[in-house]
Amino acid sequence: MDRIVPFVPWIACAVLVAWGFGVHLLMQQPAPTTAGEAGASGAVTATGQAAVGGPFALVDGSGRAVTDQTFAGKPKVVFFGFTHCPDVCPAGLMHLAEAMTRLGPKADAFTPLFITVDPERDTPQVMAEYTRHFDPRIIGLTGTAEQIAEAARAYRVFYRKVPLPESALGYTMDHSSIIYVMGADGRFLTHFTHETTPEDIAQTLGALLPG
Ligand code: NI
Repeated sequence: MDRIVPFVPWIACAVLVAWGFGVHLLMQQPAPTTAGEAGASGAVTATGQAAVGGPFALVDGSGRAVTDQTFAGKPKVVFFGFTHCPDVCPAGLMHLAEAMTRLGPKADAFTPLFITVDPERDTPQVMAEYTRHFDPRIIGLTGTAEQIAEAARAYRVFYRKVPLPESALGYTMDHSSIIYVMGADGRFLTHFTHETTPEDIAQTLGALLPG
């Protein structure tokens, strides 16, 4: 295959990384603690902190139907991407997997979910094989186009199909690449990017655990 192919989807992914940083900055804004505060500050109303996360219905690597309730009661690390992603997704998953190795058994306190934005190619089997490659504890989720759209909406994840007429791949996916950390109660706690180091991920996740 010609050498142009890997670069085109990389650029598509890079554009979304830039978009992701926009969200990153938005989420850095302090969330108002009371309605009064929000009123006083005027500009700060709804932020990402209050809005990220929510119900979803998807399919796991074994083809089993799952929902957000399936994973309730444990903090989660939630990351949207796709298995054909040449750069951003593998980097994010590699850093997460390395952080889990550093944490050892403590990592079992978290449920890591990798949700595809490319259900057309990412079947349950494809997702299972892909996530296993990074760490068998990472759960790959897919679903119908509608199910993916709903989950992405809940997590404020943007994605779109980008045709690649010159490539044998046919298309790639633009997508935002924030790695969300959600509490056991389903509320947003913090987030990483695919560039956050394994050391920093391990430290942040470890600090969220009791004791
Ligand atoms: Ni990606």
